Order: sequence, then C-alpha cells, then structure tokens
Amino acid sequence: MTRPKIAGGSACRSTFLPFSAPWLGEEEVSEVSAVLRSDWLTTSRKTSQFEEAFARYVGSPQALAFNSCTGGLHTALAALGIGPGDEVITSDWTFAATANVICHQGATPVLADIDPRTLNIDPGEIERKITSRTKAIIPVHFGGRPCPMERILALAQSYHLAVVEDAAHAFGATYGGRMIGSLPSQAACFSFYPTKCITTGEGGMNTTADEELARRMRIWRMHGIDRDAWDRYQKGGAWQYEVVAPGFKYNLTDIASAIGLAQLQKAEYFQSRRESLVARYRLLLADLPLELPPPYEEGRNAWHLFPVQLKLEELSCTREEMIEALVQENIGVSVHFIPLHRMPYYRDRFGYSPSDFPVAEGAFHRLISLPLFARMSEEDQDSVVSALRKLTEWYARV
Ligand SMILES: Cc1ncc(COP(=O)(O)O)c(C=O)c1O
Repeated sequence: MTRPKIAGGSACRSTFLPFSAPWLGEEEVSEVSAVLRSDWLTTSRKTSQFEEAFARYVGSPQALAFNSCTGGLHTALAALGIGPGDEVITSDWTFAATANVICHQGATPVLADIDPRTLNIDPGEIERKITSRTKAIIPVHFGGRPCPMERILALAQSYHLAVVEDAAHAFGATYGGRMIGSLPSQAACFSFYPTKCITTGEGGMNTTADEELARRMRIWRMHGIDRDAWDRYQKGGAWQYEVVAPGFKYNLTDIASAIGLAQLQKAEYFQSRRESLVARYRLLLADLPLELPPPYEEGRNAWHLFPVQLKLEELSCTREEMIEALVQENIGVSVHFIPLHRMPYYRDRFGYSPSDFPVAEGAFHRLISLPLFARMSEEDQDSVVSALRKLTEWYARV
C-alpha cells in the first residue's frame, strides 16, 4: 500500500533518536587521559586491571581482554583445537561474527533454528544436528536473555562437546543465580562494541574457569607467543620469544581498557536504567499490536535489546514499511537479526534455505528492535511509544 510521507501530520520528534548510543562521561575522559600521559598505550597494566575487575564482576577465576568479541570467539575456537573436518553448532539467529569465526578455523558452521518465544537457540534443534563430527556448541544469549544453559550443558556433556557462549549481548545477565561468564561452559565471550551494555569503543572479554584453556587463549591472542610485549619490557627488555602457534593479533589496548574500567563502575546503574525503561515499555505498549519479549523470571536479562514482533495479521503494512515510517518519525530502529541462512555466503556455501528455519524465518518478517540504552530519557521513550501508537493506528487492518 502507499503511505503519505508522514502518517497523519508532523513527526513525533523533531530530532533523530538513535537506536542505541553509548554513555561516556568525565570518568572515561580522565581514565583515558591518565593512559595517554603514561607513555604506554598498548596492552599493559590498565588491561590487567580491567581483566581482573571484569573477572571479579562476573565471578570468573579469570578474564582475557580482546580487541573485539569476534577476536575472543575466534581465539576460543582456535585454543580448543577446532579445525577442518569439525562441525560447530550455533544459532541461525545471530550476527555473522558468530559463524564467521567457525569458517575462519576451517570448520563447518551448523545452524540451528530458534525458540519462537525467546529467539534463543532451541536445544531440541541442537540435538537434532549433532553428528560424529560435532565438536562444539556456540549458544548466543540473544538480546541479553540467557539461553537454557542447563539443557545445553547437559547435551554437551553427554556428547563430549565444548560450549563457547556468545555473550556479546549478555554482560550483566544471570542464569540460575550465577552471572553469565561464570557458568561451567568452556568460555564466554563478551562484546564492548558501542551499542553494547558497556563499551570500550571496540573490545571484548573472554572468561573461563579452565586454566589450561586460558593459557592457550593467551598464546593465540598474541601471535602465538606466550608472553606479551609489556612482560618482555618489564623483565629488562628480554628479546627472546618463541612462537608456538600461528596466533592472531587480538589484544586490547590500555586506552580501550581505561574506558572499560570506568564503564564497569557504572554497569549496575546502566542495567537498572535499561530495566526501568523496559518496564515502562511493557506498560506503554501493552495495548498495541506488538508481541513484546517475554519476561525472564529465572534470572536477570541484560536487556541489550528490546525486540518486538509486529502482529502483522492486525496491520496492513509490512515490517519494512513500519521501519520506514518510524524513521520518518525520527525514531531509529534496527533488526536483530537477518538470520544467517538468508546471507548469500551461508546460503550458497552450505545450501541453507528458509524452509530449514521456519521459526527464524517467521520471526524475521515481524521483528523490530526499538531504541533502548541507559542514556535514553523517558521523554525519548514517550516519543517512540507515540510514534508506534500513531503508526499502528494508521496501519490498523479494518
Ligand atoms: C551476537 C553477536 N556476537 C558477536 C558479535 C561481535 O562483537 P564484536 O563487534 O565485539 O566483535 C556481535 C556484534 O554485534 C553480536 O551481536
């Protein structure tokens, strides 16, 4: 159907509201300034402090900083010895990074369909896809809601598989009374991209309780060398080193770690802001033709995202038309995710088709991620709700 440029008059906002924005302050500025004045910019004391503070926060014996979650995921797979001939099962409903790193290792990503309520990987689908070549599972805690880890860890144990959690969205989430990052998986990998719960600009963190895996990840993170540059410098500039693996270059700088240390101090406040915005969304959107994300009573959802699904049977528009109309109302939105089976590489290389993923395919056509970030004000949120009210009335099927 054709729709006027702006449905029913002027836009609900005069300025553009981004879908997400980081919240940085003087604390970050002063932490970074101290690093700039210290004469040591790359991985050093600040990064160690950030790793220690992060490990304490999530209750893990150790944490390793990376320059992205992608690097952290890649390193975890390399350190676990995942390689050609191996299969790794992950969610169809994720960002490309989760599956790309499996391909980087020469292994085969095996995509599994999702639970229609939570949009997290369906453990029944994982089990259906396990073969004699399966070596690992990468569950993705979508939007900050933990996957059903008890079932996933039990499956892993009975089939002798590793579990690497993609916790890019899940910093601050809890499952069974424990923080994500402290569960008995092999590793959990977090992201500090600017839209995430806390940011370092770009960055990531892996947690693990496995000392030997941590040692291997340290080596893979840094060229396959088992000591970092600062170590060499501190110990009198020793020049000798041995490369024991064709490692990567995925270390986090002290500049980024300084931002992370300041962000970590504010993480609980950020979480509580997102929680109160989510509670408000629930009240204010309750009567609109939208399916809201289901409550998570078993623990804490990190609420990185607030994905809603349009009840298209009650609307005369498509999801694409609704997004376009929201943008004209100055509301920034996004879609998490375009399922991997729709991506040309995964479709053509592995022969996936929409009929293999009925749940993901169904959700994809209805899903919109609404703005949600700690710095967003109640007035910002009211303008999102007004725009949605206006547009769902405009497009109401009569
Ligand atoms: C589910 C998921 N995994 C991994 C990543 C990669 O994170 P990074 O950008 O820190 O590499 C993202 C990024 O958005 C993501 O959404």
